[in-house]
Amino acid sequence: MKITVLGTGYLGATHAACLTSLGHDVLGVDIDPVRVDSLNNGHSPVLEPGLDDLLTAGLQAGRLRFTTSVTEAADHARVHFLCVGTPQSADSWEMDLSAVDSAVDELVAHLDHGDHLIVGKSTVPAGTAQGLQERMPERVAVCWNPEFLREGHGIADTLQPDRIVLGIPDTGAGPAAGETVREIYADLGEVPFLVTDLTTAELVKVSANAFLATKISFINAVADLCEATGGDVSVLSTALGLDPRIGPGALSAGLGFGGGCLPKDLRGLTARAEQVDARQAADLFRAVDAENMHRRDRLVDQVTDACGGSVSDRRITVLGASFKPGSDDIRDSPAMTVIGDLEDAGGLVTVCDPAVPAYSRDLSGALRGAEVTVIATDWPEFRDLDPVAACDLVAVPTVVDGRNCLPVARWTDAGWDYRGTGRRAQSSGWNPASTASTAN
Ligand code: UGA
Repeated sequence: MKITVLGTGYLGATHAACLTSLGHDVLGVDIDPVRVDSLNNGHSPVLEPGLDDLLTAGLQAGRLRFTTSVTEAADHARVHFLCVGTPQSADSWEMDLSAVDSAVDELVAHLDHGDHLIVGKSTVPAGTAQGLQERMPERVAVCWNPEFLREGHGIADTLQPDRIVLGIPDTGAGPAAGETVREIYADLGEVPFLVTDLTTAELVKVSANAFLATKISFINAVADLCEATGGDVSVLSTALGLDPRIGPGALSAGLGFGGGCLPKDLRGLTARAEQVDARQAADLFRAVDAENMHRRDRLVDQVTDACGGSVSDRRITVLGASFKPGSDDIRDSPAMTVIGDLEDAGGLVTVCDPAVPAYSRDLSGALRGAEVTVIATDWPEFRDLDPVAACDLVAVPTVVDGRNCLPVARWTDAGWDYRGTGRRAQSSGWNPASTASTAN
């Protein structure tokens, strides 16, 4: 099928490449000519394993191309996926929908007089799609098909999804629009395919992210309780996750969630709940956000405490800047907040990150002379750091593990003062984690 993809950031580039791999003929459209050039040369705008290869395969097969021309897009296809960004507004918790509005308006102005289908994938507040449908000419139908891509797993999450959710309009064009989208994804095989109304589809997406955010804030709140009472959140989290009603995902305690999605989707949902006077819902979401932001302050307090009360002029090495391992994305990264706060307080901060270009990748160099070492992102190279060798490099062997990702006993045995989140510092004599893993 001939398809266009409007917006070729992380979502759009991945979606376009994946649609091509399903055999479709795809034209990606973006207002940024530099991004378009780079995509036409097979380079993804973000770090995403396998995406450059998939783009290159599509370009070479002649079924993938990128352009800045909306006229070309309008001519290319009758099905148009909308993948533009919806960041948090500069002055409120609402989502900024300006890119959605301008992309749709520009496209519609160029469409010929036949029937067209706009399939929204961007994350939007409940009611957006209905509003778009109402201002479209009758021959243009609007569906909503939210994406559930995790950065770093975008291709697998597109080609082997857990579920496909599709909101269709309650107009006569709804059922046919639904069939068209079903046909586009036909080669994905047996995947639960839920067809619903536009608003429910929009809400599924933001609720999924808000739920993940809630799980993370919940385990972080419990981590504080563990710390105050002498419990261990790592074992607790494993135990909770074994209950199939709870599940193990999003239960790692530490510095909390960041990135371009969870924080702004949670806030967008909060703003929407307030707009419709769902006050209890808004309070719940607000508490999840507050707990999450508290993690960043808490880590800075832990580092300050490790420095004896002030970080001023102390050499602090922060390992990690991206919002999660496997990504070079620093949007709303908890690590970046911590780095900024420590610098503002006069700390002499050295940052090491394997992927964020602004920082060094030289781990040994970053550790040399550190008075406090902070784990802010759980990259494998930090998790697997040899505590004995690292101890020889630093000035003071104090580590604040903001991601609870280091094997505590190995670090304490190597002479480190280990400070985690709701975890007890142990020596190898008694290791609750290994006790848990042998339980059957
Ligand atoms: C998230 C969702 O997981 C995807 O399902 C969704 O499609 C996507 O947002 C989106 O809306 O596009 P992503 O932003 O890539 O995906 O990140 P996650 O892997 O969910 O991690 C989010 C943050 O939570 C990271 O900062 C991570 O370090 C943190 N986190 C995650 C924890 O603090 N604890 C955990 O147990 C898990």
